[in-house]
Formats: sequence, C-alpha cells, structure tokens
Amino acid sequence: MARKRIIAANWKMHKTADQTKLFFDKIKQHLVSLSSHQLPRVLIAAPYTLIALAAELSESTLIEVGAQNMNDATEGAFTGEVAASMLKEAKATFVIVGHSERRHIFKEDNQFINRKVKKALQEGLTPLLCIGETKLERDGHQTEEVLATQLNDCLEGVEEQLIEKIIIAYEPVWAIGTGLTATPQLAQQAHLFCREYLQQHWGKQASEKISLLYGGSVNAKTAKELMSQPDIDGLLIGGASLDPDSFAKIIEESSVPLQAEDVE
Ligand code: PGA
Repeated sequence: MARKRIIAANWKMHKTADQTKLFFDKIKQHLVSLSSHQLPRVLIAAPYTLIALAAELSESTLIEVGAQNMNDATEGAFTGEVAASMLKEAKATFVIVGHSERRHIFKEDNQFINRKVKKALQEGLTPLLCIGETKLERDGHQTEEVLATQLNDCLEGVEEQLIEKIIIAYEPVWAIGTGLTATPQLAQQAHLFCREYLQQHWGKQASEKISLLYGGSVNAKTAKELMSQPDIDGLLIGGASLDPDSFAKIIEESSVPLQAEDVE
C-alpha cells in the first residue's frame, strides 16, 4: 500500500487568534476549490495557545491540528512546560518532537527527545520526529552518521507495534529558514538512507509504512519536485505555511487530480 502523502505546517512562534481565524477562512476556501484533487493529509502545528481554537476551526475539514513540542513528564513542577494529556485535551492529534530549534536553541538532546517520542505514543499522540545535520556536519561528511545516531537514540525502546505510527521529518539545519532548500536529489539521498536504516532496524513492513517528510525552506516552487522523489512522502513547512495562499499552493502541488471516474 502506498504511503499517504503529508503536508505539515510548523507555525513556530507566529499568529494571534484573529490571524488564525483569517487563515482558516482562507484555507477552507482553497480546500473546497481543490475538491477535484486527491489531497494529502494536512497537519498544522500551532503554538500552544492556538491549538484549541485551530482544532475547533478545523472541524469538518481534513486538517489535523497538533503542537510543536511537549514535555515527557505526566505532570509536575516543570514551570513553562506542557504535558501530552494537556495537548490532547486541546484536541491536538500530533506533536513535533526534536525540531532543530529545540535542539540548538533550547539544548534538547536525543535522550530527552526519545522520552518525548515514547510518551507521545503512550498517550495516543502521533510524534513527528525531526532529524537533520548541520552545515558543519554535512561539510565534514558526517551526515549519515548524524542521521543514524539521531534515529537510533530517538527511537530507542519504542514498542515494535507502535513504530509505524511515527512520522519522521528530515530537516537539514542549514536549509531551515535560510532559503537554501536541499536539491530534490540530495533530499532523496538522505531519505533513502533513513528508509534503509529503518528497514535494517525495524523491518521492511515498518520502513515502508513510515512517512518521511522533507523540511527546510520549502515553498510553492520547490514542493512539486521534492514530492516527486520516491522516498519523500511529504513536507514540513515553516515560513511558507503562514500564508494560506502559499500553503494552499503547496497542498495543490502535492495533490493528484482525480480522474472523472474517481469523482463519480
Ligand atoms: P522553513 O522551516 O520552511 O521556514 O525553513 C521549516 C521548519 O523549521 O520546520
């Protein structure tokens, strides 16, 4: 069975409630006009304060709303942190873990990220695990070693029957927010490496079911060619996901027009 395509937005620390309402008004119009397409799964990772609102606004659409981070503890004295159960109460269905901004600005390590992956799965949230090398690591020919370590450490101890529920995003750090999108060939190479790693460690069935997204300066112009690569199953989009018109364009570029007989 073919993997479902996924287009995911990472809003980062952007948008107010009013801006969120405007975004949903527009994106819903776009989705209606795309009804003759087979659409991908569409995910939006909103700031904590907007999750409940975005979830409400997404009702009766195909959009799923999630968070950009969580803590691995169930509850406790962790000022400023948010637990998985709280995200679920706000109607989040997924959570980004290990984003490079969390790793580099907030010094999160693979072990902490691993605990978050397991906690999210335990609570029934889909973890969207981000991995990726820095420019220094790429220039030093360490990309595969870095990806293997991140996959190994962040997935350690995950129950075998839950591994297929994870989504993985390959986001080279040098491509995030820089305008330097990886070439489709370079991204495919990294995705293939991840797919083969998953096959070796988690078996063929899991490796063929896990969706691998590419992220890093994706826009409406680069989306289609990236999506045409055999091991790129979707995209994780920051900057270009904030504007409903450009996000809708990326969804359109990642959709397949339905044939007349499919529509009937
Ligand atoms: P970008 O962000 O599309 O703005 O590069 C991607 C991400 O950080 O997930």
